[in-house]
Amino acid sequence: MKAASLNLVLFGPPGAGKGTQAKQLVEKYKIPQISTGDIMRESIASGSEFGKKVQSFVSAGSLVPDQLVLDILIDRIVKPDCESGFILDGFPRTIPQADGLTAALQKQGKKINGVLAVMVPDEELIKRLTGRRICKKCGASFHLEFSAPSKSGICDHCGGELFQRKDDSFEVISNRLKVYHDQTSPLVEYYRGRNILHEISGKDKIEVIFSKVCDIIDGLRH
Ligand code: AP5
Repeated sequence: MKAASLNLVLFGPPGAGKGTQAKQLVEKYKIPQISTGDIMRESIASGSEFGKKVQSFVSAGSLVPDQLVLDILIDRIVKPDCESGFILDGFPRTIPQADGLTAALQKQGKKINGVLAVMVPDEELIKRLTGRRICKKCGASFHLEFSAPSKSGICDHCGGELFQRKDDSFEVISNRLKVYHDQTSPLVEYYRGRNILHEISGKDKIEVIFSKVCDIIDGLRH
């Protein structure tokens, strides 16, 4: 019999550690991470028509219009590598996105199995985002204070150069947090009402959070 797919949403405010956790979950559960933020940044860097449409929203830390993101996401989750499941990172971010996702999955006879909400207070998020540095080559995420690379400016994993995301400036972070509280946080109640929300404190160390997230996922599979 074919094993059921493991369709997860990794939810949380900007800087909660979604990307950090998702990369480790990919290794452990062998399902792809789908980061809508990464898709936006890659499209902008490639100069594609889609990239041109979304650039101003991403630079300002505002949300890209729902239909644009939904179209991209729906195309992505029907790819063969999503057959056993996927980890959505940064999607959905509004109730219309969540409704669109449910409808698209229903058409495939699938559903979201669990929403893992990593919660972190704003003051901590600001520290995490202003200190974040990312590898140009492999995308690994570091922090100047909390998970510093062994050699300043150089990735521990592949030796690539580290850079700071443009939207990690203080002004843009403030807008991203406002957007999260106004438009995205209502999804906590939305998924709680559907009995698939699992809240995890994101204030612990990365390994502690990872272990809690894995316990929840393993519980979903039994
Ligand atoms: P996106 O790329 O999704 O950004 P985000 O949600 O703001 O999330 P981040 O990537 O900034 O944070 P993260 O939670 O992944 O944290 P990380 O693991 O890196 O979106 C960017 C933009 O694209 C949006 O603003 C919007 O314009 C657009 N967009 C994307 N999706 C969209 C959608 N669905 N609809 C509309 N628009 C959309 O960790 C952060 C730092 O903290 C790192 O330095 C890390 O090393 C450190 N860290 C992680 N965990 C810990 C820990 N436990 N303790 C200490 N430090 C930690």
